Amino acid sequence: MVINLTDKIQTGLKREVRIALEACSKAADLFGFKIYLVGGIVRDLFLEKEIFDVDVIIEGNAIDFCHKMADKKLCKIIQVQEELKTAKVLFGEKIEIDFASTRQEFYPRRGHLPVVARIGCTLEEDVYRRDFTINSLAVALNKENYGNVIDYTGGLADLKNKVLKILHDNSFNEDPSRIIRGLKFACRFNLHRDEHTKELQEKYQNTQLHKDISWSRMKSEIKQTFSLNSARVFDMFLANGVEKLFYAEKPDVKGLEIKTLVDKHQPDYPWLVYLGCVLKDPEIIEAFCFTRQEQKIFDDRDALLNGNLSMLNSNYDIYKFFQKKSFEAILIYYLLSKRKEPLIYIEKLSQIRVELTGNDLKEMGIPEGREIGMMLDEILKKKLSGSIVNRDDEINFVKNQTK
Ligand code: CTP
Repeated sequence: MVINLTDKIQTGLKREVRIALEACSKAADLFGFKIYLVGGIVRDLFLEKEIFDVDVIIEGNAIDFCHKMADKKLCKIIQVQEELKTAKVLFGEKIEIDFASTRQEFYPRRGHLPVVARIGCTLEEDVYRRDFTINSLAVALNKENYGNVIDYTGGLADLKNKVLKILHDNSFNEDPSRIIRGLKFACRFNLHRDEHTKELQEKYQNTQLHKDISWSRMKSEIKQTFSLNSARVFDMFLANGVEKLFYAEKPDVKGLEIKTLVDKHQPDYPWLVYLGCVLKDPEIIEAFCFTRQEQKIFDDRDALLNGNLSMLNSNYDIYKFFQKKSFEAILIYYLLSKRKEPLIYIEKLSQIRVELTGNDLKEMGIPEGREIGMMLDEILKKKLSGSIVNRDDEINFVKNQTK
């Protein structure tokens, strides 16, 4: 039976997007192209989820099609990628739609980025290069079959039955970042892996590991996945043994502990708090090519984990131990060490400031140079210990010291 999604297109897409797609549909009929919605948008329309990206696929050359539409002033082409024959197109003032050409890919080296084997293949051939059956659905947009779901892989039944299934046995070998994508989809849509997918994933995690893969893809997927800030994602990550992908041991942390901490303290990089609880292997950390700020989180975490804790005898010691460390690193350290000092620092000590400035001290007669720094440090020590509290206390303390 043919399933038709016209109603869901009507209710699930913004009016401007529908108008743009109707224009594409007419143009495709006029110029003789087969046109489809494909991938995540079809899955999300079916599940009645909010749609963020509109991906259209042309059986043939999408750039040719977009040029023909632009010649008719239906849209403006804003970006073209000749190698993949993809185009980004603007309809009206603000509706952007991505157009791809049907293509077949092959992986010259396992775990590395795919290379295009052929552009302009059939939709069916294109669909089989994809990751999961639920992402392999298409919806026809030509007039004769507008709204019809094209399902070569059983994706619709899998969506209904909440099953996550890869399309071929080599899928994880070719692109292990799909393991992380699977986790993301399983949590987002409440899916369970079919037995075969589970076996292949476990097999990859246990026996097919290789460090020489495209870690940039992995980084992008892990960022999206842990940015969901979901306790369930993290628990599932560990329950499925996904830490093995990162050559890591299971940490003694639960997703809910991380989520509670992230919700309370709102770090700039929540995803790195999750990842930082797992990722330890220096080679892989390097392979992730983190930005300088991201890398500092891992460096600071390691410095904290290797720090000498017997020295933490006073609030001042705790303050100095954590002072220049990135916030995320301190949160990770708390989660991994289960010590109380990181929270004492975050919740109490880090908010304590010396109110007097170097200039104030100069005006009070302290000579310029080292002495000012030492006096500010003495004031800080007193404030951290609680023996002085406000600016007046600070002034009195300085006066007493210089009497
Ligand atoms: N895809 C794939 N393998 C990958 C990444 C993507 O096969 N490693 C395919 C999937 O068919 C996917 C499509 O490319 O549907 C588009 O990828 P992407 O935009 O990352 O995924 P979406 O399914 O749109 O998911 P999201 O909602 O997270 O954007």
